[in-house]
Parts: sequence; C-alpha cells; structure tokens
Amino acid sequence: MRLIQYEDILSAARTGGKLFTDGKYMLTPLAKEALKRHNVEILSGGSSMRKIIIAGNWKMNMSNEDAVRLSRAVASGLGDLSSRGRIAVMCPPFTALSSVASSISGSKGLYLGAQNIFYEDKGAYTGEVSADMLISCGCSFCIIGHSERRKYFGETDETVNKRAKKALEKSLTPVICVGETLEERESSRAFNVVKKQITGALQGISKEDIAKVVIAYEPVWAIGTGKTASPEQAQSMHAYIREQIAGLSDGAVAQSVSILYGGSMNPANVKGLLECTDIDGGLIGGASLKAEDFLKLVHFDD
Ligand code: PGA
Repeated sequence: MRLIQYEDILSAARTGGKLFTDGKYMLTPLAKEALKRHNVEILSGGSSMRKIIIAGNWKMNMSNEDAVRLSRAVASGLGDLSSRGRIAVMCPPFTALSSVASSISGSKGLYLGAQNIFYEDKGAYTGEVSADMLISCGCSFCIIGHSERRKYFGETDETVNKRAKKALEKSLTPVICVGETLEERESSRAFNVVKKQITGALQGISKEDIAKVVIAYEPVWAIGTGKTASPEQAQSMHAYIREQIAGLSDGAVAQSVSILYGGSMNPANVKGLLECTDIDGGLIGGASLKAEDFLKLVHFDD
C-alpha cells in the first residue's frame, strides 16, 4: 500500500497531470483535495492510460518577439486539452523560455520544455543551464540526447543517462531521444543501435522513475529531410522500444511510458502514425514553427 503525498501530486501536476502507482494506494485528506485542485489523475498503468503528447522542438529558431507571437497563437488556438487525454509541449531555445512561459500561462494542457539540461546543480560550467534554472523559467519537460546534440556536441549514452537522472531528481520529465542513422538502418543495425541507446539512457534508473520518462524515437534519416518513417517502420521500432523498457522495469511500467515519433511529422502524415498502437505522440521540429501546423498536429483527429 502506497501513501500518496502532497508532493507527489504537485510533481505530477507539473509534468502532465498523471501520477502512476503500482496498485493499491492511500490518500490523506490534504492529498485528496490537492488531486482535484491540480487536476491530477492517478493511473496504474495500461496502454489506455497513456497520454498523447505533441511536443514542438523549436531548435535554434525564434527571437523573443517571434517566440511570443508563436506561443500566443498556439495558446489561443488550442482550446482546453485537459479533458482530451493529451497535452502539448513547446520547447523554445533557452533565451525564450521565460517569455513563452508568460504568454502560455493559464493555458490548460500546454506545457513548457527545454531543449537540454545540464547534470550538475551549479558552478563553473560556462554556457550550461541547470535543472533549477529551467524550473524557475516554468519548464516541466526537457529534451535529452537529441541526435543533433549527439552529432554536433559530443552527447553520449552516458551523458544522456546523467542528464535524465538529474531531470528525474528534480521532477522534470525527460524526453529521451533515440534513433538510428541511415547507414545503421541500411546495414540492419537499427534495432541494436536503439537498444543500446535505451539501455544506456535508462541505466541505474529505478522502475518508478522509468515510469516518468518519455521516449522519442527519431530516425536520424527522417529528421528535417521530409522523409518520414512509414507507420509500419515506426510501429515496429516503438513496440521494440517498449519491450526493452519492460526488460529494464516491468510490463506495467512499459505500458505506461509514452513513446513519441519524431522525423518530418506533419499534418499530412500525423494521423497514420498516431493510429499505431505504440505511437503515443510526436516530437516535431519544422512543423512546430507554424502555429497553424502545430495546432493541426495537436488536433490531429478532429
Ligand atoms: P523535424 O525535426 O520534424 O523537422 O524532422 C524533428 C526533431 O528533430 O525533433
């Protein structure tokens, strides 16, 4: 029997409104009241419990002025997502986090994320940004291990793992990116590469914490190229990723983890991808920079 504390609810409220338990739980009167006030659901696993997450990765785009314009347009076109079992996340560059936070405040179901996080708390790390700094800007999510960071900035499975642990320690939801290159796919190594990335990223993370991560499968050959993985290709990798997660935790945890697809997702291909059993949303680059397209992705089944 698990006693659900007020802090658990606050942390779930900041990270999408779902709180996972392993079965039986007890609520104090204070916790009961907090559940209602913060619109948090208690879930005990199962695929129907997964929230759809549509996350925009703005990469190195948008001045503060452009960021405010885009985020306001998204916030005003979104409607109330809280009753639809889905959430939207915007990940602007660090420089625009605070201004985007102000322009989306009060918008239900719309969250703020960062594109990276450092694994130390503070100190002489010129150019890095800590978890507490992100939280103070209003972030609930952070992207970790994007292939562009792996390719251009020396990110490894080990540093991805350290960043993920820090995010979890601070109750930020890590969106951990994995995916193979074209050469790796063509030489039939895609599944092995992704397995190694998942195992490395989740090494030493408890089952309870694995339940809080989000994975993004982003085949490198599909990012920014206009070539999308077919629903069949994506589904088979997503199912494989879920199997790996089950091996590192258990089946219920694996069923509760949202696995997003990323790589040239757009309003024309979103539906086919999200209809697949193991695809729980998208991490979107190019199409997240236009409010109209991003809103179409969030409302893909309207
Ligand atoms: P894309 O980028 O949608 O522009 O392909 C996806 C990503 O890199 O997260």
